[in-house]
Amino acid sequence: MRTVCEAPTLTRTVRIKLATTSQEREATRRLRRAVFCDEQGIFDGDDLDEIDQQALPIAAVLSMPDRPDEVVGTVRIHETEPGIWYGSRLAVTRSARRTGSVGSGLIKLAVGTAHAHGCKTFLAQVQSQNVTLFQRLHWTSLAELDVHGRPHHLMQADLAHYPPMHDGDTGFVVTRDAL
Ligand SMILES: CC(C)(COP(=O)(O)OP(=O)(O)OC[C@H]1O[C@@H](n2cnc3c(N)ncnc32)[C@H](O)[C@@H]1OP(=O)(O)O)[C@@H](O)C(=O)NCCC(=O)NCCS
Repeated sequence: MRTVCEAPTLTRTVRIKLATTSQEREATRRLRRAVFCDEQGIFDGDDLDEIDQQALPIAAVLSMPDRPDEVVGTVRIHETEPGIWYGSRLAVTRSARRTGSVGSGLIKLAVGTAHAHGCKTFLAQVQSQNVTLFQRLHWTSLAELDVHGRPHHLMQADLAHYPPMHDGDTGFVVTRDAL
């Protein structure tokens, strides 16, 4: 008898989207506390600040069969003056790092969403160990900075590589070639 081997179906997806529900927003804050307070020790207890009152939070949502959705990544964006936008608090949970372009996908939606809102200049203060990652994603280092006592680079995204994205509520599923 002939056996038929079926190709495995796609069971694990990570969708990058604006954090539109209260559950998604709360999960992004938990993830930020886990990364920036517990793991990196940059903040004591909570990393919330006044920027959160105006920032748009973005989430990476892991979906698997028979399990509740889980937020495995986040970043936030905000406008400081007309046309000038910043991204900050980029974080991916340890188990999802370097697995499927989650961080790159978050950066793509962050810059693309700002571009759709009229961004002319997109900047971020990037921890020095991540500069190579951002350079690979078409960012340029403008200056070296000390932020919270740690080495950072002020970096700027090349908007030519980040077309405006108007559908952040739906977002997109990340693939290895996110950008
Ligand atoms: C930085 C961070 C968000 C990256 O997320 P990630 O999901 O691992 O990133 P990606 O998988 O999209 O990385 C894309 C590529 O860059 C590589 N990469 C990831 N982090 C890198 C780094 N720090 N330096 C160089 N390359 C890096 C990945 O291996 C991957 O390469 P590949 O496509 O050849 O496999 C994640 O490591 C993190 O949350 N770190 C702790 C918090 C932090 O540092 N936040 C950033 C503050 S600026």
